[in-house]
Amino acid sequence: MDTAKTYEDIKKVLKKHRQSHLLAFWDQLDKAQRRNLLSQIHRLDFVKIDYWVADYVKKNASVAISGDLAPASFYGYEPDDTRQKQKYARAVNLGKELMRQGKVAAFVVAGGQGTRLGFDGPKGDFPISPVKNKTLFQIFAEYITAASQKYKTDCPWYIMTSPLNRTRTEEIFRSNDYYGLEEKNVFIFQQGTMPNFSTDGRILLADKANLSCSPDGHGGSLKALYQSGAIEDMKRRGVEFVSYFQIDNPLINIFDPLFIGLHALDKAEMSSRAVIKTGPFEKVGNFCLADGRLNIIEYSDLPDELAEKRNPDKSLTFKLGSIAIHIINRAFVEKLNADGFSLPLHRALKKIPNIDDCGEPVGPDEPNGVKLETFVFDAVPLASKSIILETLRSEEFAPTKNATGVDSIESTKKMMVDRAARWLESAGLNIPKKTDGSIDCVLEITPGFALQKEDVKEKLNQIPQIKPGDKICLT
Ligand code: UD1
Repeated sequence: MDTAKTYEDIKKVLKKHRQSHLLAFWDQLDKAQRRNLLSQIHRLDFVKIDYWVADYVKKNASVAISGDLAPASFYGYEPDDTRQKQKYARAVNLGKELMRQGKVAAFVVAGGQGTRLGFDGPKGDFPISPVKNKTLFQIFAEYITAASQKYKTDCPWYIMTSPLNRTRTEEIFRSNDYYGLEEKNVFIFQQGTMPNFSTDGRILLADKANLSCSPDGHGGSLKALYQSGAIEDMKRRGVEFVSYFQIDNPLINIFDPLFIGLHALDKAEMSSRAVIKTGPFEKVGNFCLADGRLNIIEYSDLPDELAEKRNPDKSLTFKLGSIAIHIINRAFVEKLNADGFSLPLHRALKKIPNIDDCGEPVGPDEPNGVKLETFVFDAVPLASKSIILETLRSEEFAPTKNATGVDSIESTKKMMVDRAARWLESAGLNIPKKTDGSIDCVLEITPGFALQKEDVKEKLNQIPQIKPGDKICLT
């Protein structure tokens, strides 16, 4: 790069777009820092940035919900009638067949840190299993190993990280020998970033030589899958369906034949799993039809009067909550990227460390800047067809978001024990209970022992008698 020429060109561009402050400390930088800063600025698309500043930084266009909203239709956890029962049976067979053919891959978005859990590292490295303290990464890896054995195939696992945790995530996988998976079947890649802004539209500097940037949200996964070569890798392997999930839910049934099969039978491009919400304001996305198209509207964007709207039988009108589990067609991701798609931006006012005009660090106590990100579920309305399948919260949704209280480490562990107990009871075993009905032992079922309730019956001879106070892990 001819630094001097590039510097002059970039200076002009910055002036035009009112971002000249980015070069304010140029004279204090060494050669390498200058080159690096120029290349960071060079990668920015200033036409887009002007538009973001006007619509999303200085105001908040992202919450505007257009048109009338109506509740979405969905496949119930249990089929509605005999015809649907037959369809579910066909779907399960098809889902299993697609698994055997190696057409389904696992994909976790893991760009986030464990900060809210008080944990300094990739959230996937957080120990959560109730007896063995296995990490989220290990639980998912064991699930994928067990499914690969069950379907006699190699299920590849794609893991999206962010600049915050890519290196550490790669180290964790290496030092744990990929948790028994083959290295070639684990594809770790990094999502993109977006510059951070002051509320008046200036791009923030992290220090004199670097822009302040943040991961571009899980919506960035649809571009990152493509740009990282993950989609190409899937093509080479013959993968057609991507099972998308979040890092915080150890109860996820990554490869559910019914969900995969219904999605494929209905020729959908991007589908979702849902639970019935605990109440109008549960912090989950809401499935809504907007002008006839399926949308997922984040809880913070759904007007209160709609969140609280009720049917004549008193049930919530918008009762379906998103648990951030999707099947996404590989071809859909390819099509979006070939069409140069973009997802709507969402604005978050945050405390963003940066430097001021004198180059002094600012470690704000109050929110001082704007982060922009995209959400993967905003791709749902772009799909030609999309289905929703209900699941039971107790079977498949234990989001570990907080250190204590709702959706916490404690509630997740309890849900893992409760599910294990239900699976064992359904196979006819006695589980010790306290007088208040709560479970009087700590249980863990590893994916290698059972991927689903039905698998337990085949392993009855391996289960010891369970006594009050026992701590038992079935592997
Ligand atoms: C999310 C969903 C919500 C859903 C709920 C279910 C959003 C905005 N909301 O809430 O609709 O009902 O989960 O539990 O997503 N991630 C990245 N890169 C990023 C940002 C996030 O990989 O740039 C990953 C995280 O590592 C995590 C997932 O995306 O696996 C969700 O992020 P998180 O911040 O935990 O979302 P929530 O607000 O909890």
